[in-house]
Amino acid sequence: MSIFWNVWIVGLTLTCLGLVLWVLLANKKVAVKDDGNDENRTTGHVYDGIEEYDNPLPLWWFKLFIVSFIAALVYLALYPGLGSYKGLLNWTSVGQLEREQQKGAEKTADIYSEFMATPVKELATNPEAIKMGTRLFANNCAVCHGAAAVGNYSFPNLTDDDWLYGGTPEKIKETLIHGRAGNMPAWGDILGAEKSGHVSHYALSLSGSEHNAELAEKGKPIFAQYCAACHMPSGKGNQLVGAPNLTDDVFLYENTYEDVLQTVLKGRVNKMPAQAPRLKEEKIHILTAYVYSLTLEESE
Ligand code: HEC
Ligand code: HEC
Repeated sequence: MSIFWNVWIVGLTLTCLGLVLWVLLANKKVAVKDDGNDENRTTGHVYDGIEEYDNPLPLWWFKLFIVSFIAALVYLALYPGLGSYKGLLNWTSVGQLEREQQKGAEKTADIYSEFMATPVKELATNPEAIKMGTRLFANNCAVCHGAAAVGNYSFPNLTDDDWLYGGTPEKIKETLIHGRAGNMPAWGDILGAEKSGHVSHYALSLSGSEHNAELAEKGKPIFAQYCAACHMPSGKGNQLVGAPNLTDDVFLYENTYEDVLQTVLKGRVNKMPAQAPRLKEEKIHILTAYVYSLTLEESE
């Protein structure tokens, strides 16, 4: 700060304080002018017949002014307020922020290392960890999986017992650290429109969804030949490649003929982003416990 502004601010601050004190003292009256004549006790102002007494400030009020005046001087001596003068305490807002941040970091570091040492299954029943997990989930995962983690079209529901890749703590953590890429190949060029339609009806029949039984029968051998490698001959899926179970009532996409045909013709590429580059190990551990806890609630 230049010397001019320094002097300007110090001068302005002190002058203002002085003025306030002067106004206070200059208007101080010691006693009420009580000579029995009410007219001498008023200021002479009359508004709608209401007159104003010319009484001094109550003493306690006057003292309060003096106390706050002294407080202002003490404050200006201790804290920065007069130009570039740093104050006797050497206080800075940055310093205070740093101290508070450090205190916060120490506290969370303790909690993190305690949680990190706790196995996922145990952590999943720790209310404090779940509270942290809920917040982390809201910030990092809810955009795709929904605030309640029940998923949406193409985003899996994490609260049910149906897993694309597995619901053990190890598998969930693997999903979070490395991400996942669900890859259903496109069959349109290989099977053509008609056979794709047949196998779609068969796929729908596996879960008892609406389908054409006659066409599904034609699709059965096609499924065995082209689809069973990933979805297994039973249609129950394979967690090693993230091929969904087609026999249950949980669907990543929709269980309509149009949607399944689309999947078969065009294929699907679906990515769960790897969290390891974004989130610290401790946070992934807590999130794993959180996701694991969601199925615990379900089975209770
Ligand atoms: C950009 C969207 C997106 C974000 C953000 C995201 N996910 Fe996912 N997640 C997906 C998709 C898509 C899949 C399914 C991948 C597939 O089909 O192979 C998935 C799959 C998963 C699975 C595997 C489910 C199963 O059935 O095996 C888990 C667990 C999971 N996510 C948890 C999380 C958590 C926890 C977070 C936050 C740290 C998160 N996801 C953030 C899109 C996302
Ligand atoms: C290479 C392995 C692989 C083969 C072969 C395969 N699929 Fe898939 N399929 C997948 C994967 C992986 C997904 C999940 C895609 C995703 O995560 O978005 C999937 C998803 C699907 C879905 C959507 C399920 C849902 O829950 O919405 C249907 C339906 C489906 N496949 C049917 C078929 C049919 C019919 C065939 C044979 C013509 C076939 N798949 C062949 C891997 C495969």
